[in-house]
Amino acid sequence: MKIAIPTETQAGESRVAASPDTVKAFIKKGAEVVVQAGAGKGASIPDDAFAAVGAKIVPSGFGDADVVLTVRRPSGELLSSLKRGAILIGGLEPYGDKAGLDSIAASGATAFAMELMPRITRAQSMDILSSQANLAGYKAVIDAAFHFTRAFPMMMTAAGTVPAARVFIMGVGVAGLQAIATARRLGAIVSATDVRKATEEQVKSLGAKFVYADIADAATSGGYAKELSAEDKSKQAALVAAHVKTQDVIITTALIPGRPAPVLITQEMVESMKPGSIIVDLAVERGGNCPLSKPDQIVEHHGVKIVGTVNLAGKLAGNASPLFAKNLANFLDLMIKDGALKIDDADECIKGTMIARDGALVHPMFGAK
Ligand code: NAI
Repeated sequence: MKIAIPTETQAGESRVAASPDTVKAFIKKGAEVVVQAGAGKGASIPDDAFAAVGAKIVPSGFGDADVVLTVRRPSGELLSSLKRGAILIGGLEPYGDKAGLDSIAASGATAFAMELMPRITRAQSMDILSSQANLAGYKAVIDAAFHFTRAFPMMMTAAGTVPAARVFIMGVGVAGLQAIATARRLGAIVSATDVRKATEEQVKSLGAKFVYADIADAATSGGYAKELSAEDKSKQAALVAAHVKTQDVIITTALIPGRPAPVLITQEMVESMKPGSIIVDLAVERGGNCPLSKPDQIVEHHGVKIVGTVNLAGKLAGNASPLFAKNLANFLDLMIKDGALKIDDADECIKGTMIARDGALVHPMFGAK
């Protein structure tokens, strides 16, 4: 069994889909591992570190690999070089790009989009969304603190008192919870909102105030949020509008699977904020929770900075890569039986993430016939 780790080719992607630890574990299971030269550079993992645990460092060429592990969807060039039936596992970005999915199917690979991992207890160790969102939530607060012209903690000095910053977290999933914890550690006064009622207890347990409109619980059985009714949207907007005026920093993380991100901070709300306030829009890649945010730009509007950095977890590649790599390795483990690859179609995690096989799309959400 030959496992390949190519260098990521998407612009700005600094993560790598393996770590020395995962490579070591693959080799222990009898696999041969090839790593493209320089693949770990952005994550501060030199080729030597992979070679030291037994990987072969290669310039390119993965046409004979049985398994290819990636962080993001591979380039067309790599896809077309795969051998038929090769197993491709990674963040394959299944939403909103049918042509991209067709190119994965056309490669003939058996492809698994890790974003589709079911939210079940057994799958937690394979969940790339969680491992990466946690880091993104942390980084969003650090970036906000960097751009903010004031301090987060209250400071009482001989020259006067510095008030604590007020930080509002919108969307309390994995990223939002880490954002609350990070802002609290920095000494801010933190509040948070979500449309899933279950988050109230989590927010309060982290020492933040829960802000909740009188709306129906929008949690799905899968643990995600669904879109609000028009009436609930306007109730939420009224509450948010009143609250944001008093806030210095807003971190938005709200997402609905397979849908554009909900608009939570309108232009009018931005204009109601104090000059110097900061918004970090973690949902920017999916359209943004603020219509003014732009991917990879800092937009200044009425003195408010709206930070739209994409792939925040990738900015912490030194942590994000080993976690991502471990998620992939745990998933691949499901397919290794006695040193050989065997795909168990009945496994919920395998079935839930498989998007293409034998040249066709096979996932019910993405064009399976
Ligand atoms: P996500 O990234 O899809 O969304 C982020 C947050 O935005 C969610 O909390 C969602 O409820 C919220 N949201 C959506 N629309 C909103 C709106 N209009 N206003 C305010 N907030 C809005 O969610 P994420 O972080 O992936 O986690 C979702 C849930 O899944 C959490 O309960 C988490 O604990 C659970 N989970 C379960 C796992 C497992 O059992 N394997 C693994 C990871 C997460």
